Amino acid sequence: MSEPSVDESEVLAILRGVMDPELGDNIVDLGMVRSAYVEQGTAHITIALTTAGCPLRATIKRDCESRVSSLPDVSNVQLHWDELTADERTRVMQRARANARDTAAPTQIPPRARVISIASGKGGVGKSSVTVNLATALASKGFTVGVLDADIWGFSVPRMLGVDSRLSARPASAGEERGKIVPEERREGPGVIKVVSTGLMVETEETALMWRGLMLAKAVEQFLHDVDWGEVDYLLIDMPPGTGDVQMALARLLPQAEMMVVTTPALSAQKVAVRVADMARRSHMPVLGVIENMSAFTAPDGSSWPLFGEGGGERLAAEIGAPLLGSVPLEAAVSTGGDTGQPVASAGGRASEVFHTIATRIVEEILPPVNMDDCTASSLTEVPVALPNE
Ligand SMILES: Nc1ncnc2c1ncn2[C@@H]1O[C@H](COP(=O)(O)OP(=O)(O)O)[C@@H](O)[C@H]1O
Ligand SMILES: [Mg+2]
Repeated sequence: MSEPSVDESEVLAILRGVMDPELGDNIVDLGMVRSAYVEQGTAHITIALTTAGCPLRATIKRDCESRVSSLPDVSNVQLHWDELTADERTRVMQRARANARDTAAPTQIPPRARVISIASGKGGVGKSSVTVNLATALASKGFTVGVLDADIWGFSVPRMLGVDSRLSARPASAGEERGKIVPEERREGPGVIKVVSTGLMVETEETALMWRGLMLAKAVEQFLHDVDWGEVDYLLIDMPPGTGDVQMALARLLPQAEMMVVTTPALSAQKVAVRVADMARRSHMPVLGVIENMSAFTAPDGSSWPLFGEGGGERLAAEIGAPLLGSVPLEAAVSTGGDTGQPVASAGGRASEVFHTIATRIVEEILPPVNMDDCTASSLTEVPVALPNE
């Protein structure tokens, strides 16, 4: 092992991605990080909470651990907890309030939403299929799921979700400079999917190509600033392939985003997927896991046909140090579901089961929704007391 190459400023930089969803800002700028240093491969981080009992602690813990352990030379993360003093709490509240007031809350994505970008090294591996099916599986559990189609020129989400009306806009309400775009909605059992895509703004894929380099280059930024997402529990972002500008812009605009990498079982796909994971690391975006798609096809007689190779998902997971969340088999229903706008996850079969299992893992293990109802320390109620003159 080489000399430790991580200093405090790097640990703090990566901790800026950890949001306190209740206060709507990152824990570093809120002054909640008391100390952060790395010693012999172990990162020691002391975080002061508004009150010790808040259940957000588990969320913050998980986020800190997954982010900080992505730093080179960090193999272990030790969190130490502390409580803010009354004075510190007043300052934090002031800041939280200023943030809320300026609702220059940098994007329209609610800070409590868990943001997952679905990426891959190359096109055609099934990012969009994975995005719409995970959205469907999450919504069928009763969640509100935003789907942002960031594949600006190669959009396929509208077709795959059977949404084809044009996006509408609503006029500016008090305090807003301009009107907002309203996402298209699709109900899925007890849940809702909210869709935004350039495919809902332009007439055809040809028009989209024509607009290339003009207004569409700014589309992703607009989708974050000018779309009235309202409440969403999860926001899934269907990324364009590769490691270009859109990826970098999203990492900058959505510091709470985390990534899932889709790969096929082929060795070549796994190699390019590693580059995406590298890019995620460089932009301090944790990689939650790997999804292998187009795994072995099972024939009606039960025989298994690994048409696109085998083991790519496992190898990629091992190489980037993230879990393999599931292997989606090759199945005609995945493709027909995409063509007819009825994702396979809303029907049955093996591929559908895998999507539902991954969704359950997201909710139960990896990115549980932030549940504010249980929070005994709803600290925002302290604001009027803390700021009597404002
Ligand atoms: N598990 C699968 N089984 C069968 N066809 C699939 C599967 N996953 C994706 N496809 C098909 O492969 C093509 C590419 O998938 P898509 O999700 O559009 O990839 P990407 O978004 O990465 O370019 C689509 O036609 C899709 O229907
Ligand atoms: Mg796609």
